[in-house]
Amino acid sequence: MSELSVNHLLGIKYLNKKDIELIFKTADHFKEVINRPIKKVPSLRDITIANLFFENSTRTKLSFELAEKRLSADVINFSAAQSSVKKGETLIDTVNNILSMKVDMVVMRHPNPGAGVFLSKHVSASIINAGDGAHEHPTQALLDSYSIREKLGEVKGKNVVIVGDILHSRVALSNIFALQLQGANVMVCGPKTLIPKYIDKLGVKVETNLRKALNWCDVANMLRVQNERMDVSYFPTTREYAQQFGVDKTLLDSLDKEITIMHPGPINRGVEITSDVADSKQAIILDQVQNGVAIRMAVIYLLASKIKQ
Ligand code: NCD
Repeated sequence: MSELSVNHLLGIKYLNKKDIELIFKTADHFKEVINRPIKKVPSLRDITIANLFFENSTRTKLSFELAEKRLSADVINFSAAQSSVKKGETLIDTVNNILSMKVDMVVMRHPNPGAGVFLSKHVSASIINAGDGAHEHPTQALLDSYSIREKLGEVKGKNVVIVGDILHSRVALSNIFALQLQGANVMVCGPKTLIPKYIDKLGVKVETNLRKALNWCDVANMLRVQNERMDVSYFPTTREYAQQFGVDKTLLDSLDKEITIMHPGPINRGVEITSDVADSKQAIILDQVQNGVAIRMAVIYLLASKIKQ
């Protein structure tokens, strides 16, 4: 039986193409399961998972929790806002205390890049990175590629543009790695100030003209401007940002071809995309959310099967 090449999911950077194929094949099975009248399978009955969220989250937290429950795992939730972290406890102490209650797997979102890698070196549980600062968000990139595969048949050879705040986005970096592993062509588009200086080293195309980027692509993944990560101003006003880098229906309809619109959420309607685009047939935003549960079930299931050996 095939298995993942890793014991943790810390970033797409640590995966190979076969890992992604295995995750997708497993997610196909779970997608079928969650569309059954009885959406639950007993696969993880003896596994306990702790969801540790040191940063806010809606979709990702709910999606992980649902995935865990549909696999029949025992689940405990921890949110930093109500915890002893505020009393000065270190990350390793917090996690070791939780693990001493016999927890097998940790799903962690943390504001510091590399927090998951750090933890994986100090504790025995299997770690899933649910977003570490502006670094990686591997399950988001997996569900994004899975949604492209579902919509367009395959990811290989497709032109994908990631639009917006690339500099502060963990979704962008994980997507770049995942798309390249699968043979897609990747472009980033946004104001120069929101495109990292190291971008050339990642082998992606860079475009600052949104219309040109959209005419090139098959898929546009629209990112939110992550104001909470900005200590200075990166563009004049939100209105000007929306005029230059926002997609509205008029722009979409004026393109040479019909493209697919994606968004990881949360959407700032009227900034990166208008409501008529977000709610249009070309947008697969809610399919992404639905696929997120199947992808997370697949990742958890595959990592848990390595723990049991
Ligand atoms: C993203 C995140 O938290 O990195 N959202 C998500 O996980 N669905 C993107 C964002 O916050 O804009």
